[in-house]
Amino acid sequence: MKRRQFLSLGVATLAAPAIISRRTVAAEPGAPLPIPDVMEVGPGAGNILSAIKGRAELIPGVESDTLGYGQDYLGPLLRFQRGRTASIDVENRTDDPITAHWHGMHVPGYLDGGPQLAFGPGKTWSPELPVDHPAATLFYHSHVHGRTAEQVYRGLAGMIIIDDPEIDDPLPRDYGVNDFPLIVQDRSFDRSGRLTYDLGMMGRMQGFHGDDVLVNGAIRPKLTVPAGLVRLRLLNASNARIYDFNFTDGRQFHQVASDGGLLPSPAAMVNLRLAPAERAEIIVDFSDQSAIRLVSQNVGSGGMMGGGNNTATLDVMSFDVGDASTSGPVQLPGSLPATVSDLGEPVRTREFILNISSGNMISSMLNNLIGQDRQTMGINGEPYDMSRIDQQVQLGETELWRINADMMTHPFHVHGVSFQVVTMGGRAVNPAEIGWKDVVHVEGPTEILLQFDKPATIDTPFMYHCHILEHEDAEMMGQFTVG
Ligand code: C2O
Ligand code: CU
Ligand code: CU
Repeated sequence: MKRRQFLSLGVATLAAPAIISRRTVAAEPGAPLPIPDVMEVGPGAGNILSAIKGRAELIPGVESDTLGYGQDYLGPLLRFQRGRTASIDVENRTDDPITAHWHGMHVPGYLDGGPQLAFGPGKTWSPELPVDHPAATLFYHSHVHGRTAEQVYRGLAGMIIIDDPEIDDPLPRDYGVNDFPLIVQDRSFDRSGRLTYDLGMMGRMQGFHGDDVLVNGAIRPKLTVPAGLVRLRLLNASNARIYDFNFTDGRQFHQVASDGGLLPSPAAMVNLRLAPAERAEIIVDFSDQSAIRLVSQNVGSGGMMGGGNNTATLDVMSFDVGDASTSGPVQLPGSLPATVSDLGEPVRTREFILNISSGNMISSMLNNLIGQDRQTMGINGEPYDMSRIDQQVQLGETELWRINADMMTHPFHVHGVSFQVVTMGGRAVNPAEIGWKDVVHVEGPTEILLQFDKPATIDTPFMYHCHILEHEDAEMMGQFTVG
């Protein structure tokens, strides 16, 4: 306890830096929300996802150096269909190694796009993905060890929607009409309006926190929605920021899906917390036609355990309401075709402690603060080692994983599986938390139940890690086989 107090105090003292340089170029919020192009990916050749260096006008009139999959910043919306193969050629036209990781998908390790599958400039990686996942909103991004944070920051990320032809989705599902992807990221710009990735001391410890919120690559955009029920697919694609979303009029909305697919029934709420890499599909009723804004409370940088929240509000985007909906349901169904199943009793328990420092805490904290390239965070006292297998799991066995952290809160992610949260920070889960998840925000002792259905070998193991990307790059990651 004493140790934690000392560290929290140290960080809190450092947490009050001056704002060094504010942008002098106006951000001009209110541009229309960009709707990503859709790439339907089925079997056969011709689906090309080309990682490129881009020049994007994130601030109108100012070009920034960015990265993207097939476009200047971010990538197309990939649509996969359950039961079909998704064949995709990922080309690397950047100057550095990249990967394409299908975050949330159940595919064997050799198709997963983790750090072992990095490939260099001029190369193409052509996975054939058997799509064996319920309808869901997933994430794809580069995952090169030590470079994930900056590559994702520059734009190597996008959304995946999995469709399941076997289920009757009773929710709005007209893409770009009443069903919208919202990829939320915080970013910083220099005085001239160029994208900057400058961590500073706090960023090295707590992960990057930017001053502006982008949705689908636009600053505080505006979306015109039909007067009726609208589905918003929220993806927190930020490096480290936790959002606490709500609408300016305090209206109630319903969460209908979490990371791995639909919930058993819509969960009513007025605010929604999303940690990095978490997804939520929500249904908002705009039939009263009032124009509102989506905002987020500032959850305190890095989510210090037991730390104070500050009350600043971040503007995310605004909504205008047009004519009445001509498609989609008029009423929210009382229950949903969820796929959450009973995993049975666990045959094994594993424990994980996420360490903000591994080894000597004081010296590694100092390293982190002075910006040594190799930082020393870890899990269970060990920094990530690409040549070490940390856990071996058996295919088809149900396990209970207990996760806790030594100082900050962390979004813990597991590859190749969806899990069920049993307890979170020592409390039982609420109705919005009982669906399939692949990220859980660890705010105290947390337990998850998992059953792996895809293999991973020592050459291409699966990862578990903190999804604060700066922590992941600083070795808060481990790897495991499934055999
Ligand atoms: Cu979003 Cu290891 O992944
Ligand atoms: Cu992942
Ligand atoms: Cu972390």
